[in-house]
Amino acid sequence: MKTRGAILRTVPGKFEVTDLILDDPRQNEIRVKMVASGMCHSDDHMATGDLPVAVYPVCGGHEGAGIVDAVGPNTKGFAPGDKVVFSFLPACGKCRWCATGHQNLCDLGATVLVGSRWDDPESFRLSLADGTPVGQALGISTFSEYTTVAVDSAVKVPDDTPLEKACLLGCAVGTGWGSAVRTGDVQAGDTVLVFGAGGIGSFAVQGAAHAGAARLIVVDPVEFKRESALSLGATHAVATAEEGIALAQSFTNGQGADVAIVTVGVITGDHVAQAFSGIRKQGTVVVTALGNAAAVGLPISILELTLYEKKIKGSLFGSSNPSADIPILLDLYRAGYLKLDEVITTEYSLDEINRGYEDMHAGKNIRGVIRF
Ligand SMILES: NC(=O)c1ccc[n+]([C@@H]2O[C@H](COP(=O)([O-])OP(=O)(O)OC[C@H]3O[C@@H](n4cnc5c(N)ncnc54)[C@H](O)[C@@H]3O)[C@@H](O)[C@H]2O)c1
Ligand SMILES: [Zn+2]
Ligand SMILES: [Zn+2]
Repeated sequence: MKTRGAILRTVPGKFEVTDLILDDPRQNEIRVKMVASGMCHSDDHMATGDLPVAVYPVCGGHEGAGIVDAVGPNTKGFAPGDKVVFSFLPACGKCRWCATGHQNLCDLGATVLVGSRWDDPESFRLSLADGTPVGQALGISTFSEYTTVAVDSAVKVPDDTPLEKACLLGCAVGTGWGSAVRTGDVQAGDTVLVFGAGGIGSFAVQGAAHAGAARLIVVDPVEFKRESALSLGATHAVATAEEGIALAQSFTNGQGADVAIVTVGVITGDHVAQAFSGIRKQGTVVVTALGNAAAVGLPISILELTLYEKKIKGSLFGSSNPSADIPILLDLYRAGYLKLDEVITTEYSLDEINRGYEDMHAGKNIRGVIRF
């Protein structure tokens, strides 16, 4: 069928909304009419070329929700009309990682930056009108009016779920919340530093607050983001890392934060080193943000690492299990414990996508969302 989607032909580049041809679903695939897609910073990393993919053009977007429109033959678990939230990382349910409660590291993830079918790598579900294959960002491409995905990428949600809010569960919520609750293992009474209060940081703040952080210090240069973080549960919000670290030390007899979570837009080794200098003995730095894929090296003191037993942990999708955590986090939203509406600053049409990313860069959005 025909659809319209936002593609990148080359990088660095801007999204271009164009006509696309979408495959019908094969076995173990569903076609979904999109309702909403969050505009995560990671798609901007794709546009700048910081996060390269194997095939261009690529249709962007990985934080979305919609309604099943067609189901492949002999495909269990989905019917037309079902509401789904996509997981930006697929989960097969059977590999070593899925089987041991680490769905975020499912072996299928190895292929998500290729953009073709993982069970048939030469085959693409999207193409230009002239037949040129178009890769799917993370295998899903939520910046498209319709998309066909593997069932591994979709989680069914209740019929009364407001998908225009729940789309954030496809990336930002689990990533941020899990960075604090799962990867960082924030404990009641902890002093926590969160660097960056955008889409991901907003949920790191909510996760840390939920886990009982007594001092929850947010660092963001943008005043509007700091105010937002305070309304989401942060106890302090400051403009610079130096101020944030000094505050954490002032609460901990000079020792530093128990956990520091880095969710800045474009990370460098210096951001990790700053966070590292702000944690206590046996403290944890959680590295959630992405930067240039080719960057290597962390300018940290190796002696401090050894003698203080400090930890630096990467965090992919907040170390979460999307099949379990998307429904759990949705329940928390429905029960009033998790704020989604407050994190969505502006809704855009698909054609306004570049304006949405300009607003993100200008510091105007906590999260922008495309409404189809
Ligand atoms: N690991 C994962 O699974 C995963 C998933 C999604 C996104 N990400 C990455 O997380 C990062 C954040 O994504 P987002 O969508 O929240 O981006 P965003 O642009 O919405 O938020 C980034 C925030 O960082 C702030 N900031 C910039 N420089 C800063 C600094 N030096 N100190 C403190 N704050 C600073 C910005 O003002 C902004 O509020 C991106 O790098 C994104 O690619 C990672
Ligand atoms: Zn994302
Ligand atoms: Zn798996």
